[in-house]
Amino acid sequence: MSTHWHAETDDQGRLWLGLDQAGSTLNLLGTQVLNELAQRVDAIEAEPPQALVLHSRKRGFIAGADLNELEGASNALDLARHITHVHLLFDRIEALPCPSVALIDGYCLGGGLELALACTYRIAADDPDLHMGLPEVRLGIFPAYGGTWRAIRNLGALAALRLMLTGRTLPAREAKRAGLVDLVAPRRQLRAAASYLLEQAPKPRRAGLRQRLPSNPALRPLVAAVLRRQAAKHADPAHYPAPFQLIEHWRTHGDEGPALLASEAQAVSRLLTGDTARNLIRLFKLRERLKGLGRGSGRGGEHGIAHVHVIGGGVMGGDIAAWAAQSGFRVTLQDLGLDQLGRAMRRAQGLFRKRLQDELAIRDAWDRLTPDPRGDGLARADLVLEAIVEDAQAKRALFDGIEPRLRADALLATNTSGIPLERLSKGLRRPERLLGLHFFNPVARMELVEVVRGAQTQSEGMDRALAFVHALGRLPLPVQSSPGFLVNRVLMPYLLEAVELLAEGVPASAIDRAAERFGMPMGPVALADNIGLDICLAVVEEVGPRLSIPAETPELLRERVHRRALGKKSGEGFYRYRNGRHGRRLAPKRIPSIRTRRGRIPPDLAERMVFRLLNEAVACLREGVVGDADLLDAGVVFGTGFAPFRGGPMHFIAEGGQARMLERLRDLEVSHGDHFHPDRGWDLLRV
Ligand code: NAI
Repeated sequence: MSTHWHAETDDQGRLWLGLDQAGSTLNLLGTQVLNELAQRVDAIEAEPPQALVLHSRKRGFIAGADLNELEGASNALDLARHITHVHLLFDRIEALPCPSVALIDGYCLGGGLELALACTYRIAADDPDLHMGLPEVRLGIFPAYGGTWRAIRNLGALAALRLMLTGRTLPAREAKRAGLVDLVAPRRQLRAAASYLLEQAPKPRRAGLRQRLPSNPALRPLVAAVLRRQAAKHADPAHYPAPFQLIEHWRTHGDEGPALLASEAQAVSRLLTGDTARNLIRLFKLRERLKGLGRGSGRGGEHGIAHVHVIGGGVMGGDIAAWAAQSGFRVTLQDLGLDQLGRAMRRAQGLFRKRLQDELAIRDAWDRLTPDPRGDGLARADLVLEAIVEDAQAKRALFDGIEPRLRADALLATNTSGIPLERLSKGLRRPERLLGLHFFNPVARMELVEVVRGAQTQSEGMDRALAFVHALGRLPLPVQSSPGFLVNRVLMPYLLEAVELLAEGVPASAIDRAAERFGMPMGPVALADNIGLDICLAVVEEVGPRLSIPAETPELLRERVHRRALGKKSGEGFYRYRNGRHGRRLAPKRIPSIRTRRGRIPPDLAERMVFRLLNEAVACLREGVVGDADLLDAGVVFGTGFAPFRGGPMHFIAEGGQARMLERLRDLEVSHGDHFHPDRGWDLLRV
């Protein structure tokens, strides 16, 4: 009986085996799917067809292994056994007496590509949305279904390792150039392409002599050392062991198939039971959960938005408008200043060129974005989003002027960084249609968007906004309106502590290094300079007094802004930015601009910053700013970059032992003062 794999034999005697995993929107290589495949292979071995063609009866080939099952496996030994089992199955497919072809459309990732690599040939559909690759490092592991061996064998070590170390996915034509597929064909001609390839029967693709050279035992240690150095620029081996173990795996075994397979099973089963992989897999699932909220989680997921009108064409408004236009929305962009509009349009062009490869798509995106200084688009828009200056009065005055012109069913949104919606909706005739769409800077890089619900916001508007964010390819996080919402609120005490340390005379570079060592993508001082100290000041003044432990605005921050030292954008903030030499290139160089005292590097630097963040996270959870601890973790990791391998602040507290973490916070309170006073939410956490 077939549940997942469906077979038909054509009149040439070729067996077409189509995967349609039952009860799932995606095809995954879970135990059931693999077991059924093994039964099919038994039958094929007993009575071989002329050829075997593996394809998918869904849109998309195979998205990889089933992470739920891998996560469920409790010990490394079971995992190693499972991996060896899959190796044997894929080896049998490769050893069949007949040729085999994988027909790939949509996605072909991880284990899916490893299965395809075990076939004699691969053909990819020429779809713009096709992507294939071995992204396992992003989950803290590396390919283990024979992928390291077969990728090295087919592409050569350098190309294969680059693919696996970056975790990049490739579109069809690039996959062909890289040697991952043998042919690219229009989707509707995939079957014909398979027949063609089987008739031609070329020799299976293998790396050439030159591509095999780096695997030579004499060269390998040298190449591995270079790869390690490059990898270390992106990841700390103590936090992210997988890329380094992958390099070591190759350094030890080169391109020797059986040794690579045995080592895959050993190394990856160990990585899978380690903290980093467990936390990264957890975040992968949380990302899926946020996407699910955008798809409506069973409630439709319809946004009904075609036309977006953005008011304020500055850093944020301009970039949001461009992003929406490249995502297929019709956009009008309004600003008081023509200069601002000109700058925003120029930035938009840069974005389109970078994101959209072909001229036609660029022209279409360009056609969808219209500068609109008079605000003619207001009356037609389905969604009006304001991103003018962060000033409640200015925003209210704007709403007064525009509300009468909005369509009855239009949504009204604000990109405020932290002004509670209730203050902005005062005076609106229909306050229930106001909500927050809080994008982060830079818009093109930050995945998270907080979708803010005010006390009066209608649920229907929230659902539409979540779906809209999803349609932008962003991760929507529903949050309650409260000062700073979630992300800026938890970030604030962390940044304030950094400023406090600066004021104590601790060098900025030491503060940043400590945070980076903890796992933050960028230290807090550099981050504040990047955001802009004027913006930080505005947010601190708005949110600081309303934190769970009210904070005053630090004098040092006020002084910097007063001196127009606004951060990177003005050439000086907490650091001074000069063009310096980095090797042969000119690049901005950071020089400290705050006076430091010798010997002032306290041992609890990172803890002081991190524990203030954790304490505020606990307060947010207690107040219900987000629905639960998992959503809080997702928001803080995707919104601030909080050390992903630690799985998010609430998870970090749980892993550290809640009682022990609370005790440490109390110690910090004793040594450093009231702003470390534990929030009462600690008592409510599950032990
Ligand atoms: P910005 O100062 O770069 O841009 C504001 C733009 O609004 C200017 O071009 C200005 O000419 C225009 N403007 C002001 N009043 C207007 C009006 N009545 N009608 C039409 N246009 C008007 O500011 P930025 O940084 O883009 O911030 C905008 C909003 O986004 C603020 O609420 C800010 O808090 C929020 N935000 C900013 C982030 C950042 O990192 N810059 C991050 C997330 C949110």
